[in-house]
Amino acid sequence: MKKYTPKRVLVVGATSGLGRGIAETYISRGCVVGVAARRQQLLAEVAAGHPDVYTAVCDVTQPEACVEQLKALVMQMGGMDLLVLSSGVGNQNVVLSYEAERPMIETNVVGWTAIVDWAYTYFKEQGFGHLAAISSIAGVRGLAPAPAYSASKAFQSHYLEAIRQRAMRTGGRLCVTDIRPGFVLTPLLANPKQFFWVLKPEKAVRSIVRAIDRRKGVATITMRWAMLVPIMRILPNWLMALVLVKKDKM
Ligand SMILES: NC(=O)c1ccc[n+]([C@@H]2O[C@H](COP(=O)([O-])OP(=O)(O)OC[C@H]3O[C@@H](n4cnc5c(N)ncnc54)[C@H](OP(=O)(O)O)[C@@H]3O)[C@@H](O)[C@H]2O)c1
Repeated sequence: MKKYTPKRVLVVGATSGLGRGIAETYISRGCVVGVAARRQQLLAEVAAGHPDVYTAVCDVTQPEACVEQLKALVMQMGGMDLLVLSSGVGNQNVVLSYEAERPMIETNVVGWTAIVDWAYTYFKEQGFGHLAAISSIAGVRGLAPAPAYSASKAFQSHYLEAIRQRAMRTGGRLCVTDIRPGFVLTPLLANPKQFFWVLKPEKAVRSIVRAIDRRKGVATITMRWAMLVPIMRILPNWLMALVLVKKDKM
């Protein structure tokens, strides 16, 4: 497959974890990079010493304001060829409180959709472009300990599938990539010992950037998760419940 080299890359959620690693990869390739998230100090750290890196403080949970800030950032960058949407929050919610679910819905669904719609429309009007968003293998099934997180990731994957169908009718000028990582050792994973096959972030970032380079439609990170996902899809719900539900707590 043809190697893809974007020149102007916007990364939303670039202050930590996967987004930061992805931004640093494109910076090291000499791209013009825009980095956005809430923590200004960390954005400044990413940009330090790189005149071609531009920053914007934005909060995805304020979708209208956030999109305006991203538009201004893209103007500073001189345009955008690739958007990597990595912002996200994820928590377990054992007691099923709405207060705990709300930030995931506002960040991973409401704000996320505003950014995807803006970016896809921008690329469509421009006539080319690549939208890559990081969903998760958590979206493959509903997960008892994390209802909103798993549902928000299923929403993202379905949304990306829908707009990929539109992109497919553009003769390859527009591309939509759904990146679905397994567990990665980033601040999002509050208690990594609870999980298995936890990847080092550097390895996950390398695989993610490779998938973007190849303009894949869907990329499950890594290969062993790609092999497990079809099994996860057909597991009966009683077995999922047996594995995931802690009876005394849920
Ligand atoms: N780590 C994993 O195991 C794993 C597995 C599968 C998928 N993922 C997905 O990968 C993506 C990146 O997560 P990560 O693991 O790299 O976690 P992370 O280190 O916590 O990074 C999350 C990023 O999202 C930004 N963000 C969060 N809320 C935001 C908001 N309201 N507005 C703007 N930016 C916001 C954070 O920046 P600020 O706090 O500075 O705003 C940060 O840069 C997420 O979508 C996550 O669901 C992670």
